[in-house]
Amino acid sequence: MLVATHGQPVLQRLREATGQSHKSLEDRLPFMRAELDRGLYVRLIQAYYGFYQPLERVIAELPADSPTAHQRFKVPALLRDLTALGMSQAQIDALPFCVELPSLRSPHRLLGTRYVIEGATLGGQVLRRVIKDKLGIEADCGAEFLDVYGRSTGPLWKAFLTDLAQADDPAHNDQVVDAACETFRCFEQWLDKAQVLSA
Ligand code: HEM
Repeated sequence: MLVATHGQPVLQRLREATGQSHKSLEDRLPFMRAELDRGLYVRLIQAYYGFYQPLERVIAELPADSPTAHQRFKVPALLRDLTALGMSQAQIDALPFCVELPSLRSPHRLLGTRYVIEGATLGGQVLRRVIKDKLGIEADCGAEFLDVYGRSTGPLWKAFLTDLAQADDPAHNDQVVDAACETFRCFEQWLDKAQVLSA
């Protein structure tokens, strides 16, 4: 297995290694489900905040690994969503944070984690329409996170793919792929703990 994957471009390896995790999460998240109501949506955004907040705090302390790094923080959008959805600052401050985060101990691992959180903005483009249609919640009243990059979604994804291609190095790609798998695993475990996923 290792021999077969060694020479593949890192993006191909990432897609193969995380495809099943993506499918599992997509199937278990309730965005598309009949039972999704405003209350469950608020709990989902709270759970996303509980993961992204500590993760982005760690990322902010690392040297910027990309010219677009400063544009990519999503916690400000999540905070605006929580406020728009009716939470007070005190209630937001009391939300729990995930402590089992993916390890970002090398730039290669950071890239693997970024693959997952940047890729999630693509799914957001589907989900923002679903949330608008089902719950009437739009970017300016509680769903900014789902459209966090707006019209820059495509360009920022392409810029990320350029970063990824530039860093493609068979000596380090195992770390990139391992971190991406770990990020999916940690996120799913956290959402499970927050009881926002289907069984
Ligand atoms: C119900 C929830 C979700 C839906 C409907 C969804 C849907 C999508 C869609 C439509 C794409 C673009 C595929 C393409 O253009 O080829 C995508 C890509 C991606 N999504 Fe999701 N997604 C969801 C949740 C997530 C979550 C929670 C994460 C990670 C935290 C995630 C990570 C990714 C990644 C990494 C990619 C990029 C795949 C690639 O092109 O290499 N997605 N998703």
